[in-house]
Amino acid sequence: MMERVEHRKNMLFWEKMFASRPWGRYPPEELIRFVSRTFGEVPDRDAISFLEVGCGPGANIWYLSREGYRVAGIDGSQTAISQARHRLQSEMLLHDAPAVDLQQGDFTSLPWADGIFDAVVDIEAVYANEMSVIVSCIAEIHRVLKRGGVFFGKMFGIQTAGHGTGRMIEENTYVDPSVGPCAGFGISHFFSEDELQKLFSNFSRLSFDWVHRTDHGRTVEVFEWLLTATK
Ligand SMILES: C[S@@+](CC[C@H](N)C(=O)[O-])C[C@H]1O[C@@H](n2cnc3c(N)ncnc32)[C@H](O)[C@@H]1O
Repeated sequence: MMERVEHRKNMLFWEKMFASRPWGRYPPEELIRFVSRTFGEVPDRDAISFLEVGCGPGANIWYLSREGYRVAGIDGSQTAISQARHRLQSEMLLHDAPAVDLQQGDFTSLPWADGIFDAVVDIEAVYANEMSVIVSCIAEIHRVLKRGGVFFGKMFGIQTAGHGTGRMIEENTYVDPSVGPCAGFGISHFFSEDELQKLFSNFSRLSFDWVHRTDHGRTVEVFEWLLTATK
C-alpha cells in the first residue's frame, strides 16, 4: 500500500516536472555507440524495432527515429508524451522517419505483444523507481523482446553522489537525494553490480561497462552502469 502511494506521487512528480521546465533534447553518446555498433550496418533499418521505456519528451526516440529505425516509447507523463509527439510531428515533415508508436502508461505493464522488439532501451528511467516496480518492468522488457533481442540500459550506480542521502525507503532507494545528479528528481534507485546480475538473471550475455565521471568542477561524482543483455 505504502509502495503504491510512493509510486503514484512519483509519477505525479514527473508529470509536473515536464509541465514546468524544459528537458534535454539529445541522446547520450553511449546510446549512439550501442545503436551504431549493434544495428548500424543493418541494411533495412525500418525492419528493426526499438522500444524505449521511460522515454520522457523523446530525446532518444527522436534520434532513433531520425536514424530510420521503427520506434515505440512509453512514459508515465502525458505531458512528456505530447512533447515527444509534437517534436516528431514537426520534424518528420523534414525527415522521412518511419511510424512512431508513443504511449502514456506505466512501464510495469507494457501495452505491446510478446516478442516483438529487437531492442529495448532504458536511459535513466527504470532507476527512478522502487524495487517492486523495477522488477516488474524488467519482466515486461523480457516479455516484449524477441528471442535474441537486446536490452541496453544506462543506470546510476551506488558510487554516484546522492546514494545514502534523502529518505531511504528500501536498500539503495531514496526519495529526493540531497546531492548529485538525482537531487530534486523524486525516487532514485542506485544499482550495485550484484543487484543487476540478479535482476537480469533471465537474460543471457550480460555485459557491464560504466562511465565514471565528475561534474561541476569535480564537486559531484557520477557512476553510470551501461548494461547490455540478450533475451
Ligand atoms: C530521468 S527521466 C529520463 C527520460 C528519458 N529517458 C531521457 O533520456 O531523456 C525519467 C523518465 O522515466 C519516466 N518514468 C519513471 N518511472 C516510470 C514508470 N514506472 N512508468 C513509466 N514512466 C516512468 C518519467 O516520467 C521520466 O520521463
